[in-house]
Amino acid sequence: MSDPMIHVRGVCHTYRHGGVQEPVLHDLDLDIAPGEFVVIMGPSGCGKTTLLNIVGLMMPPSRAEVLRVGGRDALGLDDAARARLRRHAIGFVFQRFNLLPAISARENVALPLRIRGERVDGQVDSLLERVGLARYAGKKPGQLSVGQQQRVALARALVGRPSLVLADEPTGNLDSENAEAVLALLGEFHREWHQTILMITHNPALAAGADRVIRMQDGRFCD
Ligand SMILES: Nc1ncnc2c1ncn2[C@@H]1O[C@H](COP(=O)(O)OP(=O)(O)OP(=O)(O)O)[C@@H](O)[C@H]1O
Ligand SMILES: [Mg+2]
Repeated sequence: MSDPMIHVRGVCHTYRHGGVQEPVLHDLDLDIAPGEFVVIMGPSGCGKTTLLNIVGLMMPPSRAEVLRVGGRDALGLDDAARARLRRHAIGFVFQRFNLLPAISARENVALPLRIRGERVDGQVDSLLERVGLARYAGKKPGQLSVGQQQRVALARALVGRPSLVLADEPTGNLDSENAEAVLALLGEFHREWHQTILMITHNPALAAGADRVIRMQDGRFCD
């Protein structure tokens, strides 16, 4: 097997608030192959977002034996190198879109390229066209429907072709029609570009198209 896209051993996480410690991830091992489309399901509060944020290098785990992402040892990187790996290798889609309200759809999609210091080229408009928003490129997020906003966010996650796409309940704020549209687009890009996708969802119907479904409960994977 080629190097896994995600290779995790012994990941533990404990949140601390006030004097209280809340352990939320317990000694997790996870391997995801390049090009795999994996869904994580589990009850609210079981630790799905925490795990996704650790794998996405948004925050360090309290403890881990191994945390390799995109073939790189994330534990051995300093903050700047970890941020660079995140910006170049990983695209994020969030439940609440997290678009910047003051700039256009086109500028939102271009943002990851600007942050990386790359040229903003034709891929921004071609991605907007692919997600059906060519006519809306100049509009600001507040002028778009929620379904359109999430399609802008999807284009932003895919710009620059990250090898890993992490999606945290990307359809959680959408009605079923818009949810299906976003998932269909994700599936189309996945078939074409073979990114690795790790997606959290509560919707079993949306999990049906995944290569693998991982179930979590109380900070552990269920067998
Ligand atoms: N920043 C934080 N500070 C303290 N505790 C947190 C923080 N984020 C999450 N938690 C706690 O950690 C546990 C796991 O949270 P997490 O967000 O990972 O769950 P989840 O499975 O994504 O839930 P949901 O399906 O509701 O999004 C919860 O008990 C939550 O209260
Ligand atoms: Mg969550």
